[in-house]
Amino acid sequence: MGSPINLYGTWVNACKYVANEIEKQLKEKPESRFILPTGSTPIGVYNELTKRNLDWSKATTYNLDEYLDCSIEEQTYRYFMDDMLFNHINIKRENINFPTDGDKGYGLDVDLCLLGIGTNGHIAFNEPGSDFNSETRVVDLTESTIQDNSRFFPTINDVPTQAVTMGLKPIMTSKRIILMANGYNKHDVLNKALLGRLSEERPASVLQLHKNMEAVYCD
Ligand code: PGA
Repeated sequence: MGSPINLYGTWVNACKYVANEIEKQLKEKPESRFILPTGSTPIGVYNELTKRNLDWSKATTYNLDEYLDCSIEEQTYRYFMDDMLFNHINIKRENINFPTDGDKGYGLDVDLCLLGIGTNGHIAFNEPGSDFNSETRVVDLTESTIQDNSRFFPTINDVPTQAVTMGLKPIMTSKRIILMANGYNKHDVLNKALLGRLSEERPASVLQLHKNMEAVYCD
């Protein structure tokens, strides 16, 4: 089997490819279910999608994670998603889901799941040490993630210390997964996660067990 990592010459082209796959999915099955990430990685995809006149009226989305007790509304992932995508497309508000809503069976049997990867190998807020069978749950953020996220807050003390994250187990029930990684600082962790040994110390390595997973990468 070849490497699941597809190298793109430019990040713009990587984002166009992912937007094309989302567009195809929506056209083939208007009632598609998607898992969507936040962070800097998917912004190019959302920008691309908002330029296209796609019909999202029957689609359902599940976000991967959300902070708990975030004192700055503009830093919540709900705000980010509204700003980047939902306010610009015709998705129904009742079809937008966040894990803080507390639904049972959250995000199961999704058609297409889009993921980013943290420099420590996390996906969503499944930090190193997360069980491959983990369910959607409240988690404490690690120091390295708090440090990474502090760039968006006035001081490090304003960064939330807890979040609700989809677990690795429900993420793996997605029919198809596209993992996105932009920049050379993700090169090492991406290679180790997808081509190295399976390890709960590198949560993204669980993706090796998925039958329909690909990564898009640009350095
Ligand atoms: P980033 O974060 O998209 O801002 O690099 C990815 C992640 O931590 O999952």
